Amino acid sequence: MAAALQTNIRPVKFPATFRALTKQSPAPFRVRCCAVNSAGKKRYNITLLPGDGIGPEVISIAKKVLQQAGSLEGVEFSFREMPVGGAALDLVGVPLPEETISAAKDSDAVLLGAIGGYKWDKNEKHLKPETGLLQLRAALKVFANLRPATVLPQLVDASTLKREVAEGVDLMVVRELTGGIYFGVPRGIKTNENGEEVGFNTEVYAAHEIDRIARVAFETARKRRGKLCSVDKANVLEASILWRRRVTALAAEYADVELSHMYVDNAAMQLVRDPKQFDTIVTNNIFGDILSDEASMITGSIGMLPSASLSDSGPGLFEPIHGSAPDIAGQDKANPLATILSAAMLLKYGLGEEKAAKRIEDAVLGALNKGFRTGDIYSNGTKLVGCKEMGEEVLKSVDSQVHASV
Ligand code: IPM
Ligand code: MG
Repeated sequence: MAAALQTNIRPVKFPATFRALTKQSPAPFRVRCCAVNSAGKKRYNITLLPGDGIGPEVISIAKKVLQQAGSLEGVEFSFREMPVGGAALDLVGVPLPEETISAAKDSDAVLLGAIGGYKWDKNEKHLKPETGLLQLRAALKVFANLRPATVLPQLVDASTLKREVAEGVDLMVVRELTGGIYFGVPRGIKTNENGEEVGFNTEVYAAHEIDRIARVAFETARKRRGKLCSVDKANVLEASILWRRRVTALAAEYADVELSHMYVDNAAMQLVRDPKQFDTIVTNNIFGDILSDEASMITGSIGMLPSASLSDSGPGLFEPIHGSAPDIAGQDKANPLATILSAAMLLKYGLGEEKAAKRIEDAVLGALNKGFRTGDIYSNGTKLVGCKEMGEEVLKSVDSQVHASV
């Protein structure tokens, strides 16, 4: 594959801001259609983007788990692997080749491992692996990023918070993903009239961008415990003042959801003081980036947490929250569970295959119940395993569901 890519791939040209907005906001969570083959099996096309660092290790395991769980529910996949991030930079000189975008857009869902690494840290901004990820989010128009943080009973003691604070936490951060300061213009670094360098960015939200993410959040909260907390900085920022106004106006359509508002500094504090007060949180791109990392630590390890990024029509992008962990890459030490759980989110939110998704979630719990732990979630009395072995245990656990159900 590598050789073909080298000769065929052209660098993609994005406008300076690679801004991609849609005006309409139809119902979120629209699942993809699929082909049905002669044996009556549903077939989906999945683009795999292993990326960098531990990405390839965790993706190869998640792929097997998807196949296995799918086969038990009459669902087949055809996978296409494409380069992104540092891997793409090394191969063709850009972090998001045009062929990768086309493959992703043409598929039913996209599963990404991780991007980034020391090797490309000093690259110019447009040649950083992270730029490829932002371009991918913009190209797929995946404005709604769902980041669950659930403290599993098996892992309560892996949390750095006291047991009584962490136990039972089950929250969802709904992060706006294709707008705000990440994409706003003007932006840049220039020299001012005093000859001094200034760096600047723009936090900007149009009403329709706020409305569509707020709708996803209200609907998410409705399916959970019916509580939505909108996080902003409306005491200082105009973009937040509009945010709060629009979210408040929409609340009238969701009378069954209890809406509250919180400033982001307070939210950061409340998340470690009393995280159980939260059910669903909705917030802008940058606050969501920060708060979702904070929320993930409540659960003990960022190595456990999946995410789903959804658009209003095209394929969703599913990825673990953790990064590429170059320090442990290739050493069979990574925790594959966040990627496996991202595959479950792919099935549930991307394809509407809830039964297969449940099989994966149950299998992860099964492996944890048997005491298997990778280094990041290890505690005394549990069995330390590597990435591959954890994957095999999850696969066995999927298998045992078959035997249990016959
Ligand atoms: C994340 C990451 C990315 C972000 C980086 C890698 C660009 O931190 O997915 O949370 O800031 O969105
Ligand atoms: Mg982040």
